[in-house]
Amino acid sequence: MLEKTLKKTIHNANELANAWPPEMVSRFQAGLLAWYYAERRVLPWREVPSLYKTVVSEFMLQQTRVHTVLPYFEKWMELYPDFKALAAAEDLSVLKAWEGLGYYSRARNLHKLARKFVALKEIPRTRTEWLEFPGVGPYISAAITSISFGQPAAVIDGNVVRVLARILEHDRIFNGPAEAAKAFGPVAEIFLNMHHPGDHNQAVMELGATVCLPRKPRCPICPVRRFCKGNRGGSPESLPQIERRKTRRVVVERAFVLQGGSVLLYRNPADSPRLAGLHELPFLPDVFPDGGGHLFAVKRRSISDQVVEEKIYRVEGRSPRLSRDHHWVHLEDVGDVPMSGPHRAWLQEFIQEKQIGGLT
Ligand code: ADE
Repeated sequence: MLEKTLKKTIHNANELANAWPPEMVSRFQAGLLAWYYAERRVLPWREVPSLYKTVVSEFMLQQTRVHTVLPYFEKWMELYPDFKALAAAEDLSVLKAWEGLGYYSRARNLHKLARKFVALKEIPRTRTEWLEFPGVGPYISAAITSISFGQPAAVIDGNVVRVLARILEHDRIFNGPAEAAKAFGPVAEIFLNMHHPGDHNQAVMELGATVCLPRKPRCPICPVRRFCKGNRGGSPESLPQIERRKTRRVVVERAFVLQGGSVLLYRNPADSPRLAGLHELPFLPDVFPDGGGHLFAVKRRSISDQVVEEKIYRVEGRSPRLSRDHHWVHLEDVGDVPMSGPHRAWLQEFIQEKQIGGLT
């Protein structure tokens, strides 16, 4: 089975398959699991685990590091301790609790998931059932059902791809993370420990996050280095080979307008794909079609494959053109409206400058 899968998905398969008889797969699994039980990080969703904690943590951990997630997870559990509390929450407060974590559709989907979950008569336990929930794809369904219900589903994320590519010294050049994940999916299933699928999945991810690091793998302390062809080959850090998408540079102009102690903000409408419900500084051409103002700050941020340069113009003494998505928010109330993380930080900086530098 291993041989066949490797042959189908990995091009230098003959060599690899011969090198991995089933006893060796078992020894690999045992070494990895023993390490995980001894060395895993103490994380709030691992201490007294529950289905709810697993669901929330896996939603938060998609695209986001553990270190970033920790304070959000703690706060979330205080605000919404279970599916029922989350289901009963207001959209706005859910968005506010997620503020700064990015990829806000995750918050909206998690909220919808909780509402759907509490309406069910029975707790779904299979991958197919979990795939029916909003925001649940192959990764989350495998993580939840393996960790919470012991289902034999292997997770594939960037960490898992890196670990497997190095173990097998697989040097095909992938045209992106999705192609790599697809190629390694069946391989991950074969390496999966059927007796402890949830712990095994978490162990591979943990190894990728703490030992098998992208640029500087810590091979001397790796529990499975004796199985690792990449380590023997001498340059594990070069694997996997995934072509980077070219970053695009985008320039946007924003307006910073203060009037009577209020700032003008734009609320992204409910159907906006990324930032629905979140406030940002308005686009300059929307509110001042003739432009103007003076360049007040230039900020840069990265959003997936874009580097966005945000030119922020301060406009005074003119009336902006407003749509129903533009709102004046008193500076004292700015903390109460959900804002995208970078815009919150910039606005705070500007308000501070206003106090010390006398902006208005
Ligand atoms: N990344 C995402 N989910 C994880 C988990 N359960 N353990 C370690 N790293 C993770």
